[in-house]
Amino acid sequence: MVQIMTNLGLRRTGTTLRDEARGRRIVRRVGLQLALLAVVTLAFSATSRAKASHIGASRHSVAAKIRYCEDCHGLSAQGFRGYYAIPRLAGQQTQYLENQLRAFGERNRPNPIMSNVAHVLRPAMIKAIVAHFQRLHPRPAGPGPKRLVAAGRSIFENGVPQDNVAACAACHGPDATGHGEIPRLAGQLYPYVVKELINWPKERGQNPANPDTSLIMKPVAHSLTKRQIEAVAAFVSNLR
Ligand code: HEC
Ligand code: HEC
Repeated sequence: MVQIMTNLGLRRTGTTLRDEARGRRIVRRVGLQLALLAVVTLAFSATSRAKASHIGASRHSVAAKIRYCEDCHGLSAQGFRGYYAIPRLAGQQTQYLENQLRAFGERNRPNPIMSNVAHVLRPAMIKAIVAHFQRLHPRPAGPGPKRLVAAGRSIFENGVPQDNVAACAACHGPDATGHGEIPRLAGQLYPYVVKELINWPKERGQNPANPDTSLIMKPVAHSLTKRQIEAVAAFVSNLR
């Protein structure tokens, strides 16, 4: 987190974050730091909650649950590129996965399917399955168009300075592997990344009484054009 704040300080100096009226109040320069602090607090309270739970999950039930997740998320959780893209969980950061399962459960990320899935998972089961998924490393299952990769790399590494878009690499890491609550993007399905960036204000952080880490990405997603989104999604989805 300290690393993110440092990066942000460097990249964001003097920029005005475009956002809706409420978001603008929260996320502006100083507000952003506060949002980050709130995020740190959230993360800490989540960790202590999880530590408080000593109820184990049996190896058999963990294996069965993993198979259940893979029915939708694909073999080795590599993602499934059907009519509706289902994201890759393989190689994903455990803290990020836990945060999203909580967000589905608390309807900060209202998705009828995943809200039901997340609702019944106990803390010990969550710990066991996210640790399993992070260790997997299958080939990317849904890479985007190669012709967009070069333009996408530039956005990922340098951001879009004229539109106040920070470099994705500053937070997601130079190899897009993420860290802690910042997700891995490398190898994520192209149509899923495009959909998330376009729909951010409609799909993430939907419970205003309960602000979460999705606030950090909101101004970034808001400032990107559709073409820029497609380019950067093509770049990350082709990374191994
Ligand atoms: C019936 C199908 C289905 C099953 C079973 C399922 N998922 Fe999902 N999952 C989805 C869909 C669809 C999405 C994408 C939601 C969206 O578009 O926001 C998703 C998204 C997610 C995400 C968000 C990923 C990200 O990159 O933000 C996580 C985490 C997740 N699922 C974990 C799990 C786990 C763990 C299990 C097993 C306990 C599981 N899912 C079982 C369909 C399913
Ligand atoms: C200030 C730090 C920061 C910057 C800069 C940033 N991100 Fe993020 N990003 C995050 C965080 C934190 C999350 C997790 C949000 C959550 O928990 O809902 C995230 C989530 C995402 C997701 C959702 C992944 C998933 O599996 O659903 C995508 C896609 C994404 N970022 C793409 C980008 C792109 C592309 C850029 C550059 C144009 C970028 N990010 C720049 C911090 C950042």
